[in-house]
Amino acid sequence: MSSQPFALPQTTPGVFITFEGIDGAGKTTHMDTLERLLQSQGREVVRTREPGGTPLAEKLRALFLHDAMDPLTETLLVFAARRDHLTQVILPALARGAWVMCDRFTDATFAYQGGGRGFDLQILGTLEGWVQERHQPDLTFLFDLPPAVAASRLAAARQPDRFEAQDTAFFERVRQAYLRRREQQPERFALIQADASPEAVAEQILHIVQAKGWA
Ligand code: TYD
Repeated sequence: MSSQPFALPQTTPGVFITFEGIDGAGKTTHMDTLERLLQSQGREVVRTREPGGTPLAEKLRALFLHDAMDPLTETLLVFAARRDHLTQVILPALARGAWVMCDRFTDATFAYQGGGRGFDLQILGTLEGWVQERHQPDLTFLFDLPPAVAASRLAAARQPDRFEAQDTAFFERVRQAYLRRREQQPERFALIQADASPEAVAEQILHIVQAKGWA
């Protein structure tokens, strides 16, 4: 079968930034700050999330977060949501030169389904190639911190979903899988010491953005 009828557009003048880390790492606050910074420079920012970001993908997200399912079903659902998100929102935004800030992307699948659930990494790589072709984020902030610290931050926060309800050992596997992913693609990742104070984390992010010439 030719993959041509499903081929994705190639040109993407915009900038694609993703934010990753275990639950409770504190991504949201820092995404807010960076979004304001980029907007203050007159840039169009598209703020989105995975799974989700389109009406269809948000429906899949609700199933993914709350219904029990086996790891293959979980993986196929998240990649289906990603394909819709990529074709409907992310690539069109990048094509018109926008800055896309996405809360989680495929590294989360390698970390949670691969590391956390133990799902076959080669199959994840195959699905990644089918769904994304050559498309990858330009920069990925990896918020790294010990699972025990993240858990204590989450404890007071809210009703846990299926993932947040996992134990520390699960999150340690997720964390290690994220770090391995960074070892494989070091040029794409910026590692953030997320157990530092919010001010210190904001400083780390600002330095990285400045080093890129983006601020
Ligand atoms: P997130 O949006 O960070 O949760 P919240 O809105 O509660 O802060 O992520 C939702 C959950 O989905 C999170 O626990 C990680 C999980 N997830 C996966 O397991 N695989 C994936 O590919 C993605 C994108 C998320």
